[in-house]
Amino acid sequence: MELEIDKAVVKRHSVRQYQDREIEKDLADKLNEFIKAINLESGLSFELVLNEKTAFTGPLAHYGKFEHCYNYIIIKGPAKREEDVGYYGEKIVIYAQQIGLNTCWVALTYSKGKLNLRLEKGEKFYLLISIGYGRHRGLPRKSKPMEDLCRVNGEMPEWFKNGMDFAMRAPTAINQQRFMITLLENGEVEAKSFFGPCHKIDLGIVKYHFELGAKIPIKWKKV
Ligand SMILES: Cc1cc2nc3c(=O)[nH]c(=O)nc-3n(C[C@H](O)[C@H](O)[C@H](O)COP(=O)(O)O)c2cc1C
Repeated sequence: MELEIDKAVVKRHSVRQYQDREIEKDLADKLNEFIKAINLESGLSFELVLNEKTAFTGPLAHYGKFEHCYNYIIIKGPAKREEDVGYYGEKIVIYAQQIGLNTCWVALTYSKGKLNLRLEKGEKFYLLISIGYGRHRGLPRKSKPMEDLCRVNGEMPEWFKNGMDFAMRAPTAINQQRFMITLLENGEVEAKSFFGPCHKIDLGIVKYHFELGAKIPIKWKKV
């Protein structure tokens, strides 16, 4: 049975050490089905690579403390889609957690030269998500306080607070949490990120978490 989505958000932590064990076929099939739907919805290209033992065995992966990382998702697509990469990629991350798998977003700590990248014309490679059965569930980590990450005039509505609670649980590159979410007078919500590695990808991840926590349709301010 799949874990409820809220529980998956709370239980998710980055995991870099995996069991030396292949992902079972029924889980891999489920994941591929989910990815297929996300590719259609997003216009991006997420590709699950299974049992590939070279991308995470070089010095960078070693430095990043990756172990037995033999499965990953390659993320490609048209240029300038960073925010969507984060938003839709995190949908896959949370779904993976629901079906009992662990993940880690990875922009740097692997050997890019080992990837079998087949880029179509106009397609750009973004980054990876590692995936597998964790040797552990990962560890909770520190977050900046809520007041440093959002602005609300007057009393904070419950839905906004719940949205922020989940946004603070969102993975960001080097846990930088360089974002600000503001409730505007007209009821729209503005989400911004500030310069740092992968900050636009982080923003998409954070917005997906906020929507999951708020549980009401969010009117995002268009930028
Ligand atoms: C866009 C992005 C890129 C990341 N790149 C790496 C990476 O190259 N290597 C790594 O070990 N972790 C990477 N991470 C994982 C973050 O370090 C991790 O999400 C952060 O420390 C928060 O921890 P948590 O995911 O357990 O909440 C990345 C995360 C994001 C969102």
